Amino acid sequence: MLPFKKVSKIYFSPSGTTKRVVDEIAKNFELDNENYDLLSFDDSVNFDDELVIVGMPVFDGRLPKMARDRLSQLKGNNTKAVAVINYGGLGYGDALLELVDLLKENNFDVIGAASTVSKHSLFNEIASKRPDNLDMKMLNEFSQNLIEKLESGKTNEIFVSGQKPFADYVNHSFDVKCDENLCVYCNDCVYTCPVEAIEEDNPIETNLDLCDNCSLCINICSENARSFDGENYFAEKENAMENDMSRKEMEFFM
Ligand SMILES: Cc1cc2nc3c(=O)[nH]c(=O)nc-3n(C[C@H](O)[C@H](O)[C@H](O)COP(=O)(O)O)c2cc1C
Repeated sequence: MLPFKKVSKIYFSPSGTTKRVVDEIAKNFELDNENYDLLSFDDSVNFDDELVIVGMPVFDGRLPKMARDRLSQLKGNNTKAVAVINYGGLGYGDALLELVDLLKENNFDVIGAASTVSKHSLFNEIASKRPDNLDMKMLNEFSQNLIEKLESGKTNEIFVSGQKPFADYVNHSFDVKCDENLCVYCNDCVYTCPVEAIEEDNPIETNLDLCDNCSLCINICSENARSFDGENYFAEKENAMENDMSRKEMEFFM
């Protein structure tokens, strides 16, 4: 018997893959779910007697700053938590350590952690088919192992890789282009952009001083009108494609 009745899923997922991973882990618990989507949820909450599954994408080896700030407002009461960072097949730097540390600071009892791999949201050619069937199988095994661990009442400290102090945040300054011929002015991008970088009266333009290149507007556009652009973007893409592109496996820590 599991020692709680609810699973709360907390995620920041501009291109949707982190949410998919968290959903996959949560589903085996067969309990009621509550969702906290940190792209729009910016409030304080105290969690108590439930399992919390937290999924964060990796931005430049760290947690995205906005996601970290919003997650910092969520506190546990020795609440059981699973820490998941999801990266685009290049590397996850110190993001998993950052997430586990933050959860512990906020009084969560971290019972398991994972680094998972999904399509790179800036450079879609990298890890383009992830998560695949093998990944899904591994995620299911992980959640079955979590259930067994919780049912047995076993406790142990979780150790993950990473180094402190964490690196500074990176400002990519990529342009975001919107094709006027494709845009249907539905304004979905305006209403969902977490930093309000796109204005209602001119969705073609993106305020690059506010934009943090999270990729949400590009991914939610039903007309595929939006894309990254500019010299910086194509130079970084070329660099990224020269990295070690060998398959990285998901890693699990219990
Ligand atoms: C600004 C930015 C920086 C990123 N940095 C990294 C990185 O350091 N390593 C990596 O492998 N993937 C990196 N990625 C890719 C994302 O971590 C990856 O695509 C993740 O699956 C996105 O999750 P989402 O689908 O929930 O948005 C980055 C993506 C963005 C937008």
